[in-house]
Amino acid sequence: MARILIIDDEPAMVEVISTICRDMGHQAFPFNSAARAIEALPGTMPQLVVADIKMQHLTGFDVLRACNDLSQRPAVIMVTGYASVETAVEAMKLGAFDYVTKPFKIDQFQLTLQRALDFQCAVRENTILKRELKDRYKFENIVGTSSKMQQVYNLIAKVADTDSTILIQGESGTGKELVARALHFNSRRQHHPFVAINCSALPENLLESELFGHKKGAFTGAVQDKMGLFEEAHHGTIFLDEINSMAQTLQTKLLRVLQERTIRRVGDTKNIPISVRVLAASNESLHEKILTGGFREDLYYRLAVIPIDLPPLRDRPEDIPLLAQHFMQKVAAQNQTPVPKIEADAMEALTKYAWPGNVRELENAIERACALCDDSRITLTDLPAQVAQRSAAHGGEPPEPGKLPVGEPLDAYVKNLERRFIEETIHFNDGSRDRAAKMLGISMATLYRKLAN
Ligand SMILES: Nc1ncnc2c1ncn2[C@@H]1O[C@H](COP(=O)(O)OP(=O)(O)OP(=O)(O)O)[C@@H](O)[C@H]1O
Ligand SMILES: [Mg+2]
Repeated sequence: MARILIIDDEPAMVEVISTICRDMGHQAFPFNSAARAIEALPGTMPQLVVADIKMQHLTGFDVLRACNDLSQRPAVIMVTGYASVETAVEAMKLGAFDYVTKPFKIDQFQLTLQRALDFQCAVRENTILKRELKDRYKFENIVGTSSKMQQVYNLIAKVADTDSTILIQGESGTGKELVARALHFNSRRQHHPFVAINCSALPENLLESELFGHKKGAFTGAVQDKMGLFEEAHHGTIFLDEINSMAQTLQTKLLRVLQERTIRRVGDTKNIPISVRVLAASNESLHEKILTGGFREDLYYRLAVIPIDLPPLRDRPEDIPLLAQHFMQKVAAQNQTPVPKIEADAMEALTKYAWPGNVRELENAIERACALCDDSRITLTDLPAQVAQRSAAHGGEPPEPGKLPVGEPLDAYVKNLERRFIEETIHFNDGSRDRAAKMLGISMATLYRKLAN
């Protein structure tokens, strides 16, 4: 049942429309004067308003404007005599849903009412969905109270609602994508698309056509024109993740896009203007890449108009208990189970471990512990071995010498340890050797060679 406000200075008309609304099962609020209807608007919060355009004193336009000012805008149907169809068109431009000319057929009027209510319902659902989405990325979801993270929040708050290009740097798993989304969902572009692309996931030529689109026939397989992600993100934000792995020739093309704010589809000669905010992320120091010739310095300065550096988790251990709690709550909410408790020595082990995979590694460890633990109590044994080993018993030191396989040649021991560490890192990365190699700071070739040892 919807609330419908009806305004007409002709009492008979108000009566007819009110009856139609009631017959359709809705609640009707009839008014003979626009002024009184406007007064009643905030208290009634109708889903739909039916207003005559031509009335004495205030008109249907005034009602429409008052509706537009409400926090939850109702759909507005304007009613007009034959003579004023042009004004009705004007009303549509001002945001009215539709207009109905007098005299009208009852069944047609009912149809218009129903369409307006359906539309209103869809708009509300959409608003709610968008709000939920925004909530998911509001700053509060970035957990951490350390001074290093406070600095990050301050910076995000300052720059989110600007159009500046931002470079987010940090080790794997430090929350770069989370920050990128927070930036977008707290900017004036939030109602437009957020498009993310991982630059390391595609070979150079595919990445180029993915970013900028292509014209039919530009290359084998280009069977039709294709829009690129920059065009898809028009008015919104594009997030270029792992920009450090972008090939040099593509870096040059990206630089041109950032300078000219136009893109050119592969195989096309025409430039298309775009309004897109660019966010980029890198999990290795671009400065170092510049020194070794792997990254264009001029592109770096274009991207890093505002740099945000995310600190590794080991540099802010005071955030670990809060993050652990946050992830326990998240898992519990997902599984609809009680939030587990964590024993003191298990928490201590968490805060002592160095977390090479940063927050993501912590999140995985907590998820695993929640699944393994008995009676909603997380103990040391529920934590991954490498985390539990750093527990208070060892004071964070390596195992005692007596536990080491003394007698084995050093080379074999080190190789064995190295291989186990690599295997564990691959496992941590859900089997991705590529990501594991990045985390370990070695090339894929080296990783395979060491595994074969
Ligand atoms: N400060 C934080 N508070 C809450 N959750 C976080 C925080 N930082 C990271 N996370 C969570 O950790 C996981 C990894 O974060 P994210 O994907 O943003 O990292 P990343 O820096 O993009 O990593 P990669 O370089 O591997 O792509 C996500 O599930 C994210 O929600
Ligand atoms: Mg990422």
